Amino acid sequence: MASVHFLHHVCVGIVLISLGHSAKYDPNWDSLDSRPLPDWYDDAKLGMFINWGVYTVPSFADEWFWYRWKGPSGEVNPAIVKYMKENYPPGFTYQDFAAQLKLEFYNPKRWMKTILKSGVKYIVLSTKHHEGFTMYPSKYSFNWNAMDVGPKKDLIGEMAKAINGSGIHFGLYHSLFEWFNPIFLKDQENKYTTQDFVFGKTLPELYEIVENYKPDVVWSDGHWMAPSGYWNSSTFIAWLYNESPVKDTVVTNDRWGSDTMCKHGGFLTCHDRYNPGVLQKRKWENAMTLDRQSWGFRRDASLEDFFTIEQLLKTIITTVSCGGNILMNVGPTPAGIFSPIYEERFTQLGSWLDVNGPAIYKTKPWTYQNDTLTKDIWYTQSKATPAVVYGFFLEWPKEPFLLFGAPKSTRFTTVQLLGYSPTLQWEDHPHGGMIVSIPPIPHSQMPCSWAWALAFSYLDN
Ligand SMILES: *[C@@H]1O[C@H](CO)[C@@H](O)[C@H](O)[C@H]1NC(C)=O
Ligand SMILES: *[C@@H]1O[C@H](CO)[C@@H](O)[C@H](O)[C@H]1NC(C)=O
Ligand SMILES: *[C@@H]1O[C@H](CO)[C@@H](O)[C@H](O)[C@H]1NC(C)=O
Repeated sequence: MASVHFLHHVCVGIVLISLGHSAKYDPNWDSLDSRPLPDWYDDAKLGMFINWGVYTVPSFADEWFWYRWKGPSGEVNPAIVKYMKENYPPGFTYQDFAAQLKLEFYNPKRWMKTILKSGVKYIVLSTKHHEGFTMYPSKYSFNWNAMDVGPKKDLIGEMAKAINGSGIHFGLYHSLFEWFNPIFLKDQENKYTTQDFVFGKTLPELYEIVENYKPDVVWSDGHWMAPSGYWNSSTFIAWLYNESPVKDTVVTNDRWGSDTMCKHGGFLTCHDRYNPGVLQKRKWENAMTLDRQSWGFRRDASLEDFFTIEQLLKTIITTVSCGGNILMNVGPTPAGIFSPIYEERFTQLGSWLDVNGPAIYKTKPWTYQNDTLTKDIWYTQSKATPAVVYGFFLEWPKEPFLLFGAPKSTRFTTVQLLGYSPTLQWEDHPHGGMIVSIPPIPHSQMPCSWAWALAFSYLDN
C-alpha cells in the first residue's frame, strides 16, 4: 500500500510541475512583453488609485514633501521649509511625522462603499512611496512601517481582506527606489555596479507583497534612477508571470527601470496623466489625479484644484476611446477617510456609469476615435458581434440635431440615446455620415446630466 501511495503522489507531482511550466516567460523584455494581458484588465477600464504615506500627516504641498524639505538645495521648496519653521520645533524630523500617522477613522468597509458606488473595477493601493515607509509590516523595513510606528496596523492586509470577494480587483503600488536610503545611496555612489539595495530591500518587498496580498496589479514606480538591469526587475516579472500565486490574473505597468518606461512590461503608463488623444498600438493607462496638484491629500487644496465631473468624464471618454484605462487618484486624509469632495466625484461617476457603463466597460476602440465633422464626439464599440458603436457627446447640442461624419448607415441602422427608451430619428448626411435628431427631453427624463452616449446599431463597416 505504502508504495502505491508513493507512486500516486509522484505522478500528481509531475502533473503539477508540467502545468506550472506551461506558459514560460524568460527574464528578458522580448519574452515578458509577449505575454497577453489577462482580459479582465482591458474590460475594466476604470480604476481607483489610492496614495498615502507618512506625507499624509503634514498633508501639505504633495507626497514629495520630505525630498522638497531635506533634498538637494536645488530641489527644495521654500514654502515647505517655511511651513516647518513656523509650525514645528527646531529638532523635528520627517521620521517624527510617522509616529503622528494615525488614520484613526480608517475603515476599509467604508472605503469599499465608495469604491462600489464609483463603478471602478480595480484599485491600486500604495504599499510604499519613495520615502520608504511601508504601509504593512514588511520584514525588510524595520521600524519604518505602519505596524511598528503610527497606526500599528497592517493597513494593506485590512484592505485586501475587505475587497476580497467583491469582484473588484486589488492592485498594489510600490516604489523601487527610496530617496534617502543609505544602502541605495551607496549603490548609486558605486554607479549601480553593486545591488545591495535591490537584493536586500526592493526585490524582497516585491515578493513579500505578492505572496501576502495576492494583488492583480503590481504598479511599479521610482524606476528612473537606474536601468532595469540594476533593479533585476525582469527576474521578478518572470516569476510573477510563471510561478507567483497570481500568475494567471496579474498585470503590471512599464515602470521597471530607466530603459522600460513607455516600452516594456504590461500596460504602458508613459508619464503621469498620459492621455495621447490618438489610438495607441499597445494597451496603456492614464494615471491621473482628481486634485491637479498632488497624489497625496492636501489640507490646503481649494475646490477649483479638483477636476469637475465634466472634466473628469471628458478625460475618461477620450482615454477609453483611444484604448486606454484610467486610474483616478484619491489621497486619503490624515484621519484615514476619503474627503467628501472625492466621495462626491466618485459617486457622480458611478451614477453616470449606471447609465453609460455599456459604452465604457468591455468596449474597444472603433475605426474612428473622434468624429470627422463635429468636435468632441468620441467613439467606442462593444466587443460583441455585430458591434454596437457608441458616440459620446460632451455638450447637449443647441440645435435639435447632431452631425456625425464617421458613422455610415445601413437600412437596418438604429440610434438610441443610452438611458432613454425611444429610438432617435436620423437621416443620411448629404456629404456622408448621419444627421441624428436630438429631441427636447423633459428634465425628469434626461438619462444623465453631463455627457451622453448614442448607441448606433448595424452600421456599415
Ligand atoms: C479571499 O477569500 C478566499 C475565500 O474566502 C480565500 O481563500 C483567500 O485566501 C482570500 N484571499 C486573500 C488575498 O485574502
Ligand atoms: C538577478 O538577475 C540575474 C540576471 O538575470 C539573475 O541571474 C539573478 O538570479 C537575479 N537575482 C535575483 C536575486 O533575482
Ligand atoms: C480628433 O482628435 C484629433 C486628436 O486629438 C484632433 O487632432 C482632431 O482635430 C480631432 N477632430 C475633430 C473634428 O475634432
